[in-house]
Amino acid sequence: MNDLMQKIVSLAKRRGFIFPSSEIYGGFSSCYDYGPLGVELKNNIKRAWWQNMVWSRADVVGLDSSILMSPKIWEASGHLSAGFADELVECKACHKRFRKDHVETPTCPECGGEFTAPKKFNLMMKTYAGVTEDESNLAYLRAETAQGIYVNFKNIVDTMRVKIPFGVAQIGKAFRNEITPGNFIFRTREFEQMEMQFFINPQPDKKGKTVKQWFEYWKKERMKWYKGHGINARNLQFRKHKKDELAHYAKAAEDIEYNYPFSSGGGSASGGGWGELEGIHDRGDWDLSNHAKHSGEDLTYFDEGANKKYIPNIIETSAGADRSTLVFLLDAYQEEEVKGEKRVVLKFHPKIAPIKIAVLPLVKNKPKLVKFARRVYEDLIDTFPVMYDEVGSIGRRYRRQDEIGTPYALTIDFESLEKYTVTLRDRDSMKQTRHKVAELQDLLQDKLGG
Ligand code: GAP
Repeated sequence: MNDLMQKIVSLAKRRGFIFPSSEIYGGFSSCYDYGPLGVELKNNIKRAWWQNMVWSRADVVGLDSSILMSPKIWEASGHLSAGFADELVECKACHKRFRKDHVETPTCPECGGEFTAPKKFNLMMKTYAGVTEDESNLAYLRAETAQGIYVNFKNIVDTMRVKIPFGVAQIGKAFRNEITPGNFIFRTREFEQMEMQFFINPQPDKKGKTVKQWFEYWKKERMKWYKGHGINARNLQFRKHKKDELAHYAKAAEDIEYNYPFSSGGGSASGGGWGELEGIHDRGDWDLSNHAKHSGEDLTYFDEGANKKYIPNIIETSAGADRSTLVFLLDAYQEEEVKGEKRVVLKFHPKIAPIKIAVLPLVKNKPKLVKFARRVYEDLIDTFPVMYDEVGSIGRRYRRQDEIGTPYALTIDFESLEKYTVTLRDRDSMKQTRHKVAELQDLLQDKLGG
C-alpha cells in the first residue's frame, strides 16, 4: 500500500475513525466499521450532501426505500443479466481470481501462473427473504439505491405535486459482490451511496433546455459541491466514458475523478491515480420504460405545460458516501514542520470536521481552571460537537486535535479566571486570539458557518 494510504489507514484506526470489521475474529475481507469520529465525519458528508441536494432546492425531494425489493426489479433493470457483470479470470496455478480489467499483466501478478479464459461474474448479492432457502424466496441486496427511486416514481408524482423537471434524492446502503475489493474504503462489497435521479422532458422543455444541458448543469453542480467543501480543485477532474465502457443503462456518462494515491485499476482510470469518485449519467428512459414493461404499470407522465404524455428522461448523480469519506480524509491530510517537530493535521472544511471545538483547561490539577473549562464545555455542547480534553500537556492536546481535524481549540488559563476570557486557537494558522466567554456562541457560529 502506498505511503500516504498507510498513514491514512493507521490514523483512521488510531484515532477512532475507521476500524477493520470483525477484527477480534481476524477481520472480514473488505468490510469496515466507522468509529466514533468516523460516524461523525461520514454523517457530516451525508448531511452536507442532503442540505445541498434536498433542503436548499425546491425541485428535489427525498426518499428512503428498502434494501430488499422484489427480484423482478433487478430483472427489469438489467442488473441480473450480463450488463451488471464483470469479467473474471482465475490463475490456474494459485487459483486467485481477478477482475480482468484490473490486471495489467498477461499472467497472474501473484505467482506468474497462466489465466483461465475470462468468464462473466454477476455482482448482485443473493439472500433469502423467508423461512425456506429456495428459489421462491431468493432476493437480492440492492446494488444501487437508484432502483428504489424509479419504482416509487408514480407514488411521488401522485403524492407530492411535483412537476417535471424534478429530482428524488436518496442516501443508503448498496451491495456488490466485487471480485477485487480494495484500497481501504475505496471499493468494498457493502457501501453507501448518495444518489439523485432528476426527471426531465426528453424534448427541449418550455425554456428550451435540452437533456444535454441538464446533464452539463448537474456535472457543474456536483463538482461545485466537492470544491465548496474544501476538496482541492487540482485533485478533481471530469472524465467522459467511451461508448464501449458505458454501463448497460447509460446513454452518456461522465465521472468526477479524484487523484488518489493509488491506481484504482481498470478502464475507469485515466492514468496515474485518477479514479472515479462520482458518476453523472444520462440514463435516458431505460429504467422507467423497463419497469413499465415488466410491471404493467403506466409510468408515463402527463406534462401539463407541454400538453403531452411521455416517459421522462433521467439524469442521475451517483456518489459514494464511503468513497467521499476517503477523499475527504486524503485531501485534508497534511504534514507540517513546526519548531523542528512534525505536525500531522487534517484540514477538514469546518462543515465536514467531526468535532468542531475542543475545550482544554491549561492544566488539570487546578480545580478552578477545570471547573471553568467544564462550564465553557457545557455551555457549548448543546450547539456544537465539542470535545473536552484535560489529559497530557497542552502541546500534545493541540496535536491530538490537529490530527482529528478540529478547527478550533479553546484554552482556559489563569487569565480566564480573572477576565472571564478564553484563547481561541485556529487549527490551520495555529494563531491564538483572546475572547470574552459571553461572546463565544456568536463568534463560533460565525466561524463555523452557522
Ligand atoms: N446508480 C449508478 C451507480 O451505481 P456506479 O458508477 O456503479 O453508478 C456510483 O456507482 C458511485 O458509487 C461510485 O462513483 C462510487 O463512489 C460508489 N461505488 C460504487 N461501487 C462501489 C464499491 N464497490 N465500493 C465503494 N463505493 C462504490
